[in-house]
Amino acid sequence: MTLAIKTTATQNSRLPSIDWNHLPFGRIFTDHMLSMDYRSGAWQTPEIVPFGPLSLNPGNSTLHYGQSIFEGMKAIRAKDGRITLFRPELNARRFNESCVRLCMPEIDEQLFIDLVKAQVRFEQDWIPNSPDSSLYIRPFIFATDDFLGVRPSETYKFMVLTCPVGAYYAEPVSVKIEEHFTRAAEGGVGRAKTAGNYAASLYPTKLANNEGFHQLIWTDGKEHKYIEESGTMNLVLVIDGVILTPSEDSDTILRSVVKRSVVDLAKHWGLPVEERRISVDEVVQAIREGRLTDAFGAGTAATIAPIAKIGFRGEVFDLPAVETRAVSKRIKAYLDDIKTGECADELGWCVEIR
Ligand SMILES: Cc1ncc(COP(=O)(O)O)c(C=O)c1O
Repeated sequence: MTLAIKTTATQNSRLPSIDWNHLPFGRIFTDHMLSMDYRSGAWQTPEIVPFGPLSLNPGNSTLHYGQSIFEGMKAIRAKDGRITLFRPELNARRFNESCVRLCMPEIDEQLFIDLVKAQVRFEQDWIPNSPDSSLYIRPFIFATDDFLGVRPSETYKFMVLTCPVGAYYAEPVSVKIEEHFTRAAEGGVGRAKTAGNYAASLYPTKLANNEGFHQLIWTDGKEHKYIEESGTMNLVLVIDGVILTPSEDSDTILRSVVKRSVVDLAKHWGLPVEERRISVDEVVQAIREGRLTDAFGAGTAATIAPIAKIGFRGEVFDLPAVETRAVSKRIKAYLDDIKTGECADELGWCVEIR
């Protein structure tokens, strides 16, 4: 079935003005955006239109009650020119899980992927070629009822924006274990990729930034005893040669596509890997005893981001030198290489956009 999308091309492309050697994350938008409205209980015909401002009624319910969800994906151009997405079915599934939690209408998973592909195909000239660069994709949905009252909106807008981007973090990150503020509580919305989770993280993160850290390591909301995730990344540690990551059984941790791939890859390679609760005490003790040999964040924006320092109760621990990190180096190299086509994609994760 061919997807019916109405397209209107811009007469004034901004492509010639782009400085490809300087691509700040999330600030440069491509010429077009995809948009699809939901009304009368059904999704309407999608459109690709020139990128530009939306006009909103100040009574728009998203502005007041926060029914808003987003996803983050990347399109990469392989060395042979093929354009691929990385495991887009996981984003489509997570998007719908978030929609259910926030009382928003789901989008058929195949339609979600087809719309993302259509936007990337339309904007393919914007995909950077340099290493560590990509076309970042931001699908999102928000409520569009003009109504002041707490109830699910009856109308929504789904959109896909695209941004050529360079590396998210320019250097290995330093993170602080947070024992007061909470990102997500059991029974809450931590597992949904909804805007309010990020708004709530800003103040505690600002305080950590003032202390010189890039990010926080969130701990569980009940006892602040177990590590959860960090900024826009899930956490992976190597202690005593075992790859460890907090389990996603609770509904407080976002199910990361990259973290899932790290675990799948470790299993595929026959490396020891455990998804379980990991206590702060266990991590701090392992660092003190030199048993923690690797630590990194896993997420679409940063991919594999080595953690250089961990702060805890006023102490700052320097972790082993990044060059010595066998596990994260091997995983990052593999993920980069299957995307650029430098090695075989044995697990079939890269989905081509034709
Ligand atoms: C809170 C949070 N945790 C983890 C992640 C990593 O998820 P993924 O690997 O799917 O990008 C993200 C980014 O999407 C995030 O926003």
